[in-house]
Amino acid sequence: ERNRPADPPAGVGLEGLRAAAAGCRACELWEPATQTVFGEGPETARIVFVGEQPGDQEDRKGEPFVGPAGRLLDKALSYARIDRRDAYVTNAVKHFGHIVKGKRRIHQTPKPEHLRACRPWLEAEFAVLQPEVVVCLGATAAKALISPSFRITKDRGQLIPWTPPGVAAVADDGHQEADDDEPDEGAPAQTWMLATTHPSAILRTPDEARDAAYDALVADLRVVARALA
Ligand code: URA
Repeated sequence: ERNRPADPPAGVGLEGLRAAAAGCRACELWEPATQTVFGEGPETARIVFVGEQPGDQEDRKGEPFVGPAGRLLDKALSYARIDRRDAYVTNAVKHFGHIVKGKRRIHQTPKPEHLRACRPWLEAEFAVLQPEVVVCLGATAAKALISPSFRITKDRGQLIPWTPPGVAAVADDGHQEADDDEPDEGAPAQTWMLATTHPSAILRTPDEARDAAYDALVADLRVVARALA
């Protein structure tokens, strides 16, 4: 396998990570892509949304979830009363994997090797952000982060106790299970994961079922909002 896991620098904060990721060549997806699309949002965010990979518009603009799926996500967040300032948005893979057909660039679902190569960036983001809730948008993120057997249709909308990789676990007595001598300051006492439908899947849903799919996304996001209240 010619791909290898990315090797993010330590202790550089989100801006340092973003700068380093701009030059990532850990897998071959960088080559046809316009640029790395790193996560975006404040370092104080309590929720991290993890999508699949940037789409066409994200690739051009260099920002996650700014195309049609992003607009749907923004609308759903506001209906669920989740403040964008509490949210950091990123992707499991940070380059737009696609094939070119005539004038169109067609999205390709990332392969396990792309997810593996990119994962250290996601873990580095978690380590800096110390989120209380990680929301997986769609099956790619959920399978990559939770388990290959995760099924969105069956397991969506449930808050699952889960510690993001890169974040030190907290023991029942509230003490950090330090795997080194440095206390991981600011780590929340309890952290959760919730998976829900990918906004792009809602956009692809046939007309007659789309409103229901959208309402279900908003309902799942309200579960997240309540967990943070
Ligand atoms: N779909 C994703 O999974 N991520 C984006 O950033 C945009 C669309």
